[in-house]
Amino acid sequence: MSEQNIYILGIESSCDDTAAAVIHNGKILSNVIANQKIHEEYGGVVPELASRAHQQNIVPVVSQALSRANINKNQLHAIAFTRGPGLMGSLLVGTSFAKSLAYGLNIPLIDVNHMQAHILAHFIDEEGFNKPPFPFLGMTISGGHTQIVKVSSYFDMKVIGETIDDAVGEAFDKSGKILGLGYPAGPVIDKLAKLGNPKAFKFTKPKVDGLNFSFSGLKTAILYFIQSETKANPSFIEENLNDICASIQHTIIEILIDKLKLASKQTGIKHIAIGGGVSANSGIRQALKDGEHKFGWTTYVPKFEFTTDNAAMIAIVGYLKFLEGNFSKQDITASARLKI
Ligand code: KG4
Ligand code: ZN
Repeated sequence: MSEQNIYILGIESSCDDTAAAVIHNGKILSNVIANQKIHEEYGGVVPELASRAHQQNIVPVVSQALSRANINKNQLHAIAFTRGPGLMGSLLVGTSFAKSLAYGLNIPLIDVNHMQAHILAHFIDEEGFNKPPFPFLGMTISGGHTQIVKVSSYFDMKVIGETIDDAVGEAFDKSGKILGLGYPAGPVIDKLAKLGNPKAFKFTKPKVDGLNFSFSGLKTAILYFIQSETKANPSFIEENLNDICASIQHTIIEILIDKLKLASKQTGIKHIAIGGGVSANSGIRQALKDGEHKFGWTTYVPKFEFTTDNAAMIAIVGYLKFLEGNFSKQDITASARLKI
C-alpha cells in the first residue's frame, strides 16, 4: 500500500451535527454535514433529540460522503471517529457506527479527540491556506469550547488556558437571547455590530488570573444593563441595537485578544491558529490581522467549513494517526469528558 494512496472516512457526531468526510492523503474529497434544525425551537441543543437525529442521519450522511468522494466503501483504508469530548448519547451513535463499519470492512479503526481535531484542521491540504509551523498557539472558540493550546507537534498538545464557565459562543448566544435575536445569535450580532459604535456602552471585563477565561459574568452584566435601561425606556433595545451588539462584540474580542497577548508573551510563540465556529466572527478576524502589525503575530484561520464542527477535521487526524500506525481496538468506548 503506497503512502500516496490512502483513503480515510471521518465521522463526527459529538454535538448536534452529524458529519462524514473522506480524505485522500491530506486532501478532502467530500465533507458532508447534516445540521439539526430541531434545536432552534429550544434555543440550545437538547441532548436526547440530538442523539435520535444522529441515528436517523448517520447512514445517509456517510453514503453521501462516499458518493461525493466518488469512491466505494471497499476502497477505504481506515475509519476515524470522534471519541470525545461531547454529549454521550451523540458520541455513542458515531462510535458504534464507526466500530461496526471498521469491523465489517476489516480495516483499522482510529479514535479522534474532537479538541485536537479542531486544531489539526489547519493541516488539511487546501490551496491558499498555510499550515502553522510548530510550536504554535491554537485557540479554539465555539459554542462549546474556549481553549488556548500550546501545540508542540501533531500529538503533543497542552491546554494552557480555558473557560471556567461559559464558552465564548455561549456569550454571544446568551447575549442574543437577552436581546431577542434568536439562536444561534453569534452571526446576527456580528452583522449588526458592523453598523454600530463599539464604544457606545461599556461592560466590565471579567478578572480571571492567568490564561483562563470566564464569560458568565459578562452575560449577567449585559442582562442587568438591559433590564435597567428598558425600565427607563421600553424601546431601548430597538433604538440602540447596533450599538449594543457592537459593544458586546468589542468586549468579547478584547477578552480574547488580551489572553492571546498574555499567552504569546508567556510562551514566546507568535504563530497563532484559531478554529471553532466563533472564528467566523469578522471582528475577531480583524483583531487578529491587527495583531500581525501590532505584535508581530502570524495568524491562521482555516477555511470556514473546516472551522465549525465538521468531519474533515476528524478525517485529517485519522490520516495523521494512520501514518503513525496509531489505531484503536474494537473495545474502545466513547468518552464525554475526554481531555487533550
Ligand atoms: O463550532 P460551532 O459551529 O459549534 C460548536 O459550538 O461546537 O460554533 C457555533 C457557535 C455558536 O455559539 C454561534 O453563535 C457562534 O459559533 N458563531 C459566531 C459567528 N458564527 C457562529 N459567533 C460570533 N460571530 C460569528 N460570525
Ligand atoms: Zn467543536
